[in-house]
Amino acid sequence: MSAIVAPSILSADFARLGDAITMLDKSNADWIHVDVMDGRFVPNISFGFPVIEAIRPFTRKPFDVHLMIVEPEKYLERFRDAGADILTVHLEACPHLHRTVHAIRELGMKAGVAINPHTPPSHLTYVLPDIDLVCVMSVNPGYGGQKFIPQTYEKVQALKHLIHETQSKALIEIDGGVTLDNAAPLLRAGADVLVAGNTVFSASDPAEAIARLKSADSHTFAA
Ligand code: DX5
Ligand code: ZN
Repeated sequence: MSAIVAPSILSADFARLGDAITMLDKSNADWIHVDVMDGRFVPNISFGFPVIEAIRPFTRKPFDVHLMIVEPEKYLERFRDAGADILTVHLEACPHLHRTVHAIRELGMKAGVAINPHTPPSHLTYVLPDIDLVCVMSVNPGYGGQKFIPQTYEKVQALKHLIHETQSKALIEIDGGVTLDNAAPLLRAGADVLVAGNTVFSASDPAEAIARLKSADSHTFAA
């Protein structure tokens, strides 16, 4: 099975976001990864509802919205209405995570939970059967173009085992520092979804970079 590839528009030219989405629509990209930052959960501010609404008409591909915000439970319906298909909240931002992921599903979206580099996969044990996606942060969230944290490989393997043990159907998404070099080993470790900002948007041919990520080797499962 080939990787699900989710280019992050955080690295796109914001003055030409419509063109970027049109390019992604024509490419092999599966999902569009949309990073929302509030300047509180992370030390950076990106964009919010009006931008998501503005780009929604440019594609029918799923919007994979990654909320790097405090109190995300206050805004779930608004993100759904703006066009989110998959809505991911941070475990570290949700004291009532179980309630929040159920609320996301009740609104008709897929529910994702993101974990920061220091958070062990075991913290997800009792919520794994109720979610569709785990976003493993392979950089500290807040900025595109950062260096991949190598402990991610071991973490993905541990998470994959936990997903099997809990009979969860959650996909494992890797977010941060994904390159054409680490894509294949990440897939072998158990990743299902690759987010890529810099690797796609700094490439001379972004569609080709997406195609290469999409065809990265995924045949061997490294237990
Ligand atoms: C980081 C964001 C990522 C970011 C990835 O806080 O969550 O989605 O856009 O960008 P790259 O692929 O450049 O590390
Ligand atoms: Zn992200």
